[in-house]
Amino acid sequence: MAFNRRVFVLGGHITPFIGKKHPDFIWKRHPDFGKRENPTLEETISAAVNGALDATGTPAELVDKAWIGNFVGELFSNQGHLGAAVVGSNPGLMYKPVMRVEGACASGGLALACAVDAIQAGNDITLVVGAEIQTTASARTGGDYLARASHYARQRELDDFTFPALFAWRNKHILAETDTTEEDIGRVSVKAYANANKNDKAHMKAVSLDLATAREAGPNNPNFLANEELAPFMKMSDCSQVSDGGAGLILVSEEGLRKLGKAPADATELVSLAQVTGNLYDDGNPLRMDATANALCKAYAGAGITSKDLQVAEVHDCFAVTELLMYEAMGLAEPGKGFQLVREGRTELTGDIPVNTGGGLIGFGHPVGATGVKQVLEVHRQMRGECGAYQLAKKPTLGATVNMGGNDKTVVATILRTT
Ligand code: CAA
Repeated sequence: MAFNRRVFVLGGHITPFIGKKHPDFIWKRHPDFGKRENPTLEETISAAVNGALDATGTPAELVDKAWIGNFVGELFSNQGHLGAAVVGSNPGLMYKPVMRVEGACASGGLALACAVDAIQAGNDITLVVGAEIQTTASARTGGDYLARASHYARQRELDDFTFPALFAWRNKHILAETDTTEEDIGRVSVKAYANANKNDKAHMKAVSLDLATAREAGPNNPNFLANEELAPFMKMSDCSQVSDGGAGLILVSEEGLRKLGKAPADATELVSLAQVTGNLYDDGNPLRMDATANALCKAYAGAGITSKDLQVAEVHDCFAVTELLMYEAMGLAEPGKGFQLVREGRTELTGDIPVNTGGGLIGFGHPVGATGVKQVLEVHRQMRGECGAYQLAKKPTLGATVNMGGNDKTVVATILRTT
């Protein structure tokens, strides 16, 4: 979409993403078990809302509209109606128009898309929030909840872990029909963990992963699906994490910047956003992410750029194979050749097109509703030199994000650049 009003990311806040294997995550053998509890959905939303307002010096009273992306609060936390939870997080938001949007793992991206539309329609200061709590249930029960992002009636029976099974199907085809190897898929996860080890907010900040472990199944990296046909094609290290966390950002027009006493130089510019939706009932081609490709094509056109112009990207690596397919859908690699980028180290922090610099969904974590908001903040933070130990040596000036719901079904792609 070509914008008729400029849109700026002023900044925001990402809570720590936590879950199993994170040092602060409370579980029965944690020394603090019984003394304190993990943050609730309500606390996480409040941290994202107030963190974003504080980080940008935005008085809540000046926010015109807000959205929250959340997938399944009703299932993990028995709580829906999250627009009112955003308002409940800060008295200055009372009686503002706030709503929750849902598009599976692209819920955060959809919240952002709503804010962009609102700015095009004349609003000046918007708040975009994403949050999800997923550790209130076991990974197996969570697999059932997350399966609501597939076509549940048809696909739930694939495996208790429906989404890992859906992407095992892609793994199976990519390994059989292209030159991609298990080692290439392992390299994606090794890169994700290495980046996360430099990121204090990352779920996997304290867990290391080497290529010998990541490239094949073994006692420390089991194939865990029950579906016999698909089980050999999904290892634990291929998967994004079951994480809790939230993110919030302030998106404004030029007039919004003025109202807040800021200038374009205080922000990054969101120059283009494309949102596309595929067909829930059609599985498509396992070797292609056509909805993602369609979204990127539109996002590049809106920004007047090509994939060659990108200097950084945040992509939806819900599984390692997804990142390889995203390289191809984004035009960073030819079809079937995504593996070359990771094999040559081009998407590492020192490469020419670093991808998922803070660890992505595999390393940073994947609190589903928060992911699309976090991705935009990550590119913004790289551009502003705020990434600490994983800051790129040369601050990027143009970057992309891709947030995906379901198996390449709801996609939100953005292009950001420095002002
Ligand atoms: N050998 C064999 N099997 C083993 C094993 C071993 N050593 N260890 C564990 N398993 C099996 C067991 O069957 C176990 O289940 P039970 O405990 O119920 O028997 C199962 O693996 C899971 O084990 P854990 O609960 O110990 O695993 P975990 O909590 O560490 O979770 C994970 C690991 C299952 C991979 C989990 O991280 C996961 O589910 N990740 C994927 C999350 C996901 O799918 N997110 C959505 C992505 S899709 C997307 O983004 C788009 C969208 O719209 C949804």
